[in-house]
Amino acid sequence: MIATDETPLLRARGLKKSFGHLEALREGNLIVNRREVVAIVGDNGAGKSTFISCIAGAIKPDAGEVFLNGNPLELGSIHAAMRAGIATVYQDLAMAPDLSVAENIFLSTEIRRRGIAGRLGLIDHKAMRARASALMDELGITTLGDVTATAGSLSGGQRQVVAVARAVSRAGELIILDEPTAALGAKQSQIVLDTIHAMRERGFGVVLISHDLPRVLDIADRIVVMRFGRVVAEVAPKGQTVRHIVSLMLGEQSAAEESAGS
Ligand SMILES: Nc1ncnc2c1ncn2[C@@H]1O[C@H](COP(=O)(O)OP(=O)(O)OP(=O)(O)O)[C@@H](O)[C@H]1O
Ligand SMILES: [Mg+2]
Repeated sequence: MIATDETPLLRARGLKKSFGHLEALREGNLIVNRREVVAIVGDNGAGKSTFISCIAGAIKPDAGEVFLNGNPLELGSIHAAMRAGIATVYQDLAMAPDLSVAENIFLSTEIRRRGIAGRLGLIDHKAMRARASALMDELGITTLGDVTATAGSLSGGQRQVVAVARAVSRAGELIILDEPTAALGAKQSQIVLDTIHAMRERGFGVVLISHDLPRVLDIADRIVVMRFGRVVAEVAPKGQTVRHIVSLMLGEQSAAEESAGS
């Protein structure tokens, strides 16, 4: 299919995933456009992480389809999603503890040395460190110290910032962030939020999962509400209150109000 301006960057349709008898994701539908921040909110266990993991290839859905620029994405393959331009910061921040910050950033995309050494598979550590440092500078990350420190020696918040930096360095078109500011102090949170703004300005689509509703109202262009594995409402942040969003999350709205709010 030829992508036109009207083709959304991402379209997920009818995604479903059960774990045994538990229907974690019953109906995952999502559209993300270029230059758009879409927030996914919902109570604990609503299925948010399962949903984005199906899009990012970390989980293979039982049913449904995902299209990027109108092209069907191979499901259940992190590599296919990455090749298509999707980069993801997972809630559990999978990182190799014994590798350095720089190595984690470039893990599986390591910078090879030029010439014969590169063809033999040798990694250019110096270039990798320089690029990792430049990336940290670009993102305004100053508290990390040194990119040769091992990931295992970092604090939870520092690790989170590295995970965001890694995703930024890999994203082609879409970046998905699952609770990227959950463990962060004020300054690091601001860096992540500034990064989200910058990605949007550069034309990326951003999917943000967060329980920080005031912040979501501030940063998102659209808010998608999940409850019990389903997308149940979609609202524009303008004029919304945290209270109303919470009532949608908990199902305290009548069906009529819900569809009126979407
Ligand atoms: N690998 C798994 N095996 C079994 N059950 C799972 C697995 N992953 C998730 N679940 C279950 O699926 C449901 C949805 O989980 P999910 O992690 O998607 O929720 P969430 O909306 O991201 O919640 P939170 O806000 O707490 O991160 C939960 O009931 C959870 O226990
Ligand atoms: Mg989650």
